[in-house]
Amino acid sequence: MADILENRKLLLIIGGGIAAYKCLDLIRRLKERGVEIQAVLTGGGGKFVTPLSLSSLTENKVYQDLFSLTDEAEMGHIRLSRENDLILVAPATANMMAKMANGISDNLATTTLLATNKPVMIAPTMNSQMWGHPATQHNLNVLKERGTLIIPPADGDLACGEVGTGRLAEVDEIISNIEAFFLSSENSNLLKGKSFTVTAGPTYEAIDPVRYLANHSSGKQGYAIAKALRDYGANVTLVSGPTNLEPPAGIRILNVTSAREMMEATENSLPADGVVCVAAVADWHVNNPQRQKIKKRPGAIPTLELIENPDILKSISNHKEHRPRLVIGFAAETENVTNHAQNKLENKGCDWIVANDISGDVMGGDRNQVQIVTKEGVSEWPYQSKVEVAQQLAKQIEDFFKDNK
Ligand code: C5P
Repeated sequence: MADILENRKLLLIIGGGIAAYKCLDLIRRLKERGVEIQAVLTGGGGKFVTPLSLSSLTENKVYQDLFSLTDEAEMGHIRLSRENDLILVAPATANMMAKMANGISDNLATTTLLATNKPVMIAPTMNSQMWGHPATQHNLNVLKERGTLIIPPADGDLACGEVGTGRLAEVDEIISNIEAFFLSSENSNLLKGKSFTVTAGPTYEAIDPVRYLANHSSGKQGYAIAKALRDYGANVTLVSGPTNLEPPAGIRILNVTSAREMMEATENSLPADGVVCVAAVADWHVNNPQRQKIKKRPGAIPTLELIENPDILKSISNHKEHRPRLVIGFAAETENVTNHAQNKLENKGCDWIVANDISGDVMGGDRNQVQIVTKEGVSEWPYQSKVEVAQQLAKQIEDFFKDNK
């Protein structure tokens, strides 16, 4: 199989951070993989690496000056901003991020970034206080909302002698982000025109205005699946219970609190080609939650009467008018995972069950090991990140629609 990076065109903008030296290794490694690289060196970047080393490694001219007569005779900043597949800013300083967020174009790098119609990825690095400053975090959010891809800085020793978040991501990490970008853009048409609803997170069932019944679901797996389907070009609706996760760009998000709200939002999202029920829906809600806070009184322990919640997965799987072509459920189990999943497949009437053993730290953690249980059989997937599980599932979903046109 051809290398996903081969013949890709990258514009590398090197900002003024001590970690700029890592760019030399990055360029060397990307060149080995067949990437064609043009480099723009900012004034700050030029204090840390030399144009000569950059041009030797990229085997291309290095661009530095917005007002270069020779380059601008051919509108250098417009050309640079258009003729590459991806623009990577590494290192991206706090100053560079502030300029990008505000559309300032006062040098060749920032003007190119403002003029581009190509995807932009940034690898920030700075002192941890600068990173945590509300101004930088605000700029980061502005950039994220605009679709800028972020390679987050790592934790560890910083050049200033402090310890914290702010180190430029390692070269391997930057390369994996570039690979993931090209992989997802290759896939980006495969589920075009298909629509999916994904439920994610926990539900909260009110006891009174301040108390509720809930569970430990973080929503990470469901969000990752919604994003993976989006990256395949699908129209995705994410019906999310309360989580601490950022709403993903390019996805319609319906925020709900209780199971009954989740049911209503999921039903309203139909018709859909597929529904993936990842949410850890509470099995019961409290009958008649109190309108006022229940007061603590000595010796008086309230009794909660619980009523069964609607089963979203089951009702979507058996929907009269809009049964989606593919309905996928999850099964979180602590024992006999495969058996329980097979029973669940039958009982709920869905097409696939993604089963996992949650006896470890799966709920809230970043990794997951799952089995896919279908009528045809069981396949065991490796222990991997929730993002990888999501990507593998999206691939399998794409295969299903390819085979069942
Ligand atoms: O055994 P359990 O009912 O918890 O099955 C889990 C699967 O069912 C998950 O896919 C979950 O999202 C879905 N579910 C649901 N509505 C419920 C309970 C579970 O959609 N009320």
